[in-house]
This record gives sequence, structure tokens and C-alpha cells, in this order.
Amino acid sequence: MTFIIAIDGPAAAGKGTLSRQIAELYGFHHLDTGLTYRATAKALLDAGLALNDEAVAERMAREVDLGGLDRDVLSRHEVGEAASKIAVMTPVRRALVQAQRDFSRREPGTVLDGRDIGTVVCPDAPVKLYVTASPEVRARRRHDEILAKGGSADFEAIFEDVKRRDERDMGRADSPLKPADDAHLLDTSEMSIEAAFQAARDIIDTALTRK
Ligand code: CDP
Repeated sequence: MTFIIAIDGPAAAGKGTLSRQIAELYGFHHLDTGLTYRATAKALLDAGLALNDEAVAERMAREVDLGGLDRDVLSRHEVGEAASKIAVMTPVRRALVQAQRDFSRREPGTVLDGRDIGTVVCPDAPVKLYVTASPEVRARRRHDEILAKGGSADFEAIFEDVKRRDERDMGRADSPLKPADDAHLLDTSEMSIEAAFQAARDIIDTALTRK
């Protein structure tokens, strides 16, 4: 049987970096499920289609190719905003969750990160991490990230954006963002990436010895 590591958390909590590091260390396949929602949204935007038509969005979701997801292409702010809008639609979620579950069964193991991995996509995963940080810290990280890439950014606008996205992700009826009952909480507000990585390793190594 394959070994699944489920990582959930809000925007800019650091789960992307953490997931990639974990996948590399253990030699597991990694899927950033946010990219599947982003790819669906981008396909709609590129085709000039409305973001509020569930049937059209579902059709786009069924055509997403998990092998062709590129964060650079999908990273635009408008794509993220559109993704969180179509992520409230049950038919879209059903289609993408199916593809994500298929991916999660790959051998020898997988790391999936998103909002509902431990609660909905892989509820039987032997390791579940919920990575979070205060909205201020997350907005600060996103802000610094943009500046580091040579862009310009307004902290207040990003902070408002983080809070709005949290509300939408946590408040939706279908698969709201929340920790699974059996998830390990990692609050990275005052933790470096290295410290979070070390804490995650300890949890995973313990679970692997029980396998
Ligand atoms: O990186 P960032 O936090 O901006 O977003 P993302 O992880 O790329 O996800 C974009 C949007 O997709 C989120 O705001 C969620 O609404 C949605 N999403 C979801 O509903 N379920 C997932 N498993 C992953 C993402």
C-alpha cells in the first residue's frame, strides 16, 4: 500500500515549500491541489467564459491534466481569485477530488497539499498536517515574496486579500478549510521553514515506523 501525507492550511502558510521538501526527502510524488483549481480557473479565463456557470466549470475541471500543472503559469493573482470562486462549486470539486484521489495512490508514497486533503480527499491518510500562521504573518510573507521577485506590493491590500480568501475558504458549505480531527497542527507564525520541516519529519518518521 502507498503512504499518503496530507497537508492542509490557508493561503501563504508555508505549506507549498514544506510539501516539496517532504516529497523530495522521502522520494514521494507531490501534488499541489491548489494548482488543479487554478488550472480550471485559468482555462475559463483564457476562453473568456463566465466564472459562475457550474456546468461549464465542471467540464473544464474534467479536462485538467495533472501532468501539465505549472505554478509559474498559474501563479497570477487573478487566477488565484478566480480559483477560490470556482472552488465553491460542488461539481467542480467532485471532478478534481476524483483526479486527486487517483494521484494519491501512486507508489511508493504521495504528498498532497491543499485545503481539504485530510478531511475529504484522503481521510485515511496516516499523516495529516495542518500548517497555519496568523493572517499578519502570512500577508507579510506574501508581500516580501513579491518584493524579492522585484515587484511592488502594498501590505494593507495583501492583508485584506488574505483575510478575504480565508473567509471564502473557511466559510464555504462544501469542504470548508479546517483541520481534520486527527491532524497535527503546525503554527509557523514564529517558526522558520527549517523548524517546521524538522517538526514534520519527526511526525512522519514516527508514522512510518508504525506502518
Ligand atoms: O497558494 P494560494 O494559497 O494562493 O492558493 P492555492 O493553494 O493555489 O489555491 C487556490 C484556491 O483553490 C484556494 O483559495 C482555494 O479556494 C482553492 N482550493 C481548494 O478549494 N481546495 C484545495 N484542495 C486546494 C485549493
